[in-house]
Amino acid sequence: MHTVQAIADLRAQIADWRRAGERVALIPTMGNLHAGHLRLVEHARELAARTVASIFVNPTQFGPNEDFAGYPRTLDDDRRQLESVGLDLLFAPAVAAIYPRPLEDMTQVLVPGLSQMLCGTSRPIHFRGVATVVTKLFNLVQPDVAVFGEKDWQQLVVIRRMAADLDLPVEIVGVPTVREADGLAMSSRNRYLTPEERRNAPTLYATLTACAERLRAGERDCAALAADARTRLTAAGFRPDYFEIRRADDLQPPAAEDRELRVLAAAWLGRARLIDNVPVTLGRSPGAR
Ligand code: PAF
Repeated sequence: MHTVQAIADLRAQIADWRRAGERVALIPTMGNLHAGHLRLVEHARELAARTVASIFVNPTQFGPNEDFAGYPRTLDDDRRQLESVGLDLLFAPAVAAIYPRPLEDMTQVLVPGLSQMLCGTSRPIHFRGVATVVTKLFNLVQPDVAVFGEKDWQQLVVIRRMAADLDLPVEIVGVPTVREADGLAMSSRNRYLTPEERRNAPTLYATLTACAERLRAGERDCAALAADARTRLTAAGFRPDYFEIRRADDLQPPAAEDRELRVLAAAWLGRARLIDNVPVTLGRSPGAR
């Protein structure tokens, strides 16, 4: 595995592969890798002859009071892990390479609507930062396919919309969330949990799956289901940011005929803001044609 920091080196390596007619997959990350990220690389290797991962803690997707400075940076360990799953190229640029001028002076990418709901309500600049950096990474690598984790379901929907709206010639692939044995979604931010909070943290996934089961069993009052779930999370010591049932593909409130839903939540536990979601596919209602 090769590591490059400079954009020119990245482009030179990718140009070689392109000349050889090889398909390229990109796995964008912010590092501090865990088994969930490695699954993305393994999946990418099935989709393309060459795999490129990026590690870049993107300052523009963190709000002023968020954890940009303290976000775990573990490049040496990340490199070892990526090598072990057969990645070809790691791109680990400095901030100045991606943002040579202050962001206020640079072109930014905003996906309206989708960026302002759910996580975007409490993190108003987050998805603009994500969309901007992912657009830049797509332009730098020009991948045939890019792979993202479904744990950040809203991010995946935002990126799909952005790629469609801007006619970016890249296929966006989502990979199901990798979980710990007790159900907690793997996340770099799980390390902020104290041992006691860590024991409690799987309640988030348990609450999401309980809500999904009630939907599958025929309950349709989404507002009541979400309110119950928020009460359960609060009783368990979480501070829920949101708990919502939405249409999977565009995150709008579901209509009676919608079948592909997603139950999504974000909740604080101590100083960790945990996010998670589960899919729900509803059967046809009796009598529906
Ligand atoms: O999901 C992440 O790790 C980040 O939001 C991403 C997509 C790498 C953009 O910085």
